[in-house]
Amino acid sequence: MYELFFHLVFKRMDPERAHHMAVRWIRLTAAVPVLRTFVAALLAPRHKELRTEALGLRMHGPFGLAAGFDKNAVAIDGMAMLGFDHVEIGTVTGEPQPGNPKKRLFRLVPDRALINRMGFNNEGSAAVARRLNERVPVFRTVVGVNIGKTKVVPEAEAVADYVKSTERLARHADYLVVNVSSPNTPGLRNLQATEALRPLLTAVREAADRTVTDRRVPLLVKIAPDLADEDVDAVADLAVELALDGIIATNTTIAREGLGLTADPKLVAETGGLSGAPLKERSLEVLRRLYARVGDRLVLVGVGGIENAEDAWQRILAGATLVQGYSAFIYEGPFYARAVHKGLAARLKASPYATLAEAVGADTRKATA
Ligand SMILES: Cc1cc2nc3c(=O)[nH]c(=O)nc-3n(C[C@H](O)[C@H](O)[C@H](O)COP(=O)(O)O)c2cc1C
Repeated sequence: MYELFFHLVFKRMDPERAHHMAVRWIRLTAAVPVLRTFVAALLAPRHKELRTEALGLRMHGPFGLAAGFDKNAVAIDGMAMLGFDHVEIGTVTGEPQPGNPKKRLFRLVPDRALINRMGFNNEGSAAVARRLNERVPVFRTVVGVNIGKTKVVPEAEAVADYVKSTERLARHADYLVVNVSSPNTPGLRNLQATEALRPLLTAVREAADRTVTDRRVPLLVKIAPDLADEDVDAVADLAVELALDGIIATNTTIAREGLGLTADPKLVAETGGLSGAPLKERSLEVLRRLYARVGDRLVLVGVGGIENAEDAWQRILAGATLVQGYSAFIYEGPFYARAVHKGLAARLKASPYATLAEAVGADTRKATA
C-alpha cells in the first residue's frame, strides 16, 4: 500500500518537498487526539519483552529515529505516534543557518539509498531550545538532542559553538549527542581526531554539568563510517577515558560502495553523505569493532542501513543497546517501526536469550572468545 503511494506520489516529488509534506501530515495527525490514539494503537503496539533501559532512561523498546529527520524538534510526538521509542532531534547548531543550496537531497531508489548534502539546515539552538521548553509532551518518549557546528564558525572556535548549544539545550535533552561526523560541514569530521575531540567533549561535558544540576545528562558522540579502524579504536578509548555514556555508529558515508542498481551515474556522483542499504555492512563492522573494544562500558547505538527487524537484531547481537533508522523510513513508510518491533520480539522469543539486554553483543562476544 505505502509502496504504491511512494511510487505514485512521493517518488514524483522533489525529495525535500516530500519530506516537508510527510512531516506536516504527521504533525497534523498527532495534533488530533482521536486520530493520534488510533494511529499509535495501530503503529506503536507495545511489546513488553522489548522494554529497554539505557543511559539511565526507560524506553518502550530499543528502536529510535536517527538525527536529521526532525532537525527543529517539530514532530517529536508524531514520530513517537509512529512507534519510534526515542527521537533524536537535530542536528542543531549554535546559530540558525539555511544549509546548502537546493537541490541537496537525492533518492537512489533501486539501491534503497539516499544522498544528502543538507548542511545542517536548522533554526539554531535558541529557537529549538524555546520550542522544547514550550513543548507539552503527548507521548512519553525519550528525546535525544544532537548538536553540531555552525558553518560560519571557524574550526578553531568550534568548541565555543558546541558549548553555546549545550548551555541552551542540555536541560531539554534526555541525552545529548556531539555530532562530529557529518560530511556536509567543511572541516567538521576533523573534530573526530582525538586531539580535537578531547577538548571538545570535555567542554561539552562541563557545560552540561554546569547548566543541568539536578541530573547528569548522558553524553554520546556520533562517528563516521569512513574512519580508519585505528581511529575508531582511538575514539572508543577516548570515550571510555572521558567517561562518556555512549557512541552512535554511524553517520552517512562519503564512499560510494554498494551502489550497484542505480543506473543514473549523475545521481551516484552527487556530493554528500550516502545512507540506507549500502551503508549497512560498514556500519555493522564499525559497531562490532566498538563492542569488541569497549564491551558494556559504553552504550552503543547502531545506525546505518537498518531496513528491517533482521538488521536491527544483527546490530543488537553485534553490540548495540539501541538502534536507529532514517532512510528506510522513507522507503518503508509508516509501518517501518511496527515491523521492526514485531520482528525483534519474534527473534528474541526464538533466541536463547531471556532478555534483549542478554542478547546485546552476544555474537561479538562469541567471535572474540
Ligand atoms: C537527509 C538526511 C539528513 C541527515 N541529517 C543528519 C543530521 O543532521 N545529523 C546527524 O547526526 N545525522 C544526520 N543524518 C544521518 C542519519 O542520522 C543516520 O546516521 C544515517 O542516515 C544512517 O542511517 P540510515 O541508513 O538509517 O539512514 C541524516 C541523514 C539523512 C538521510
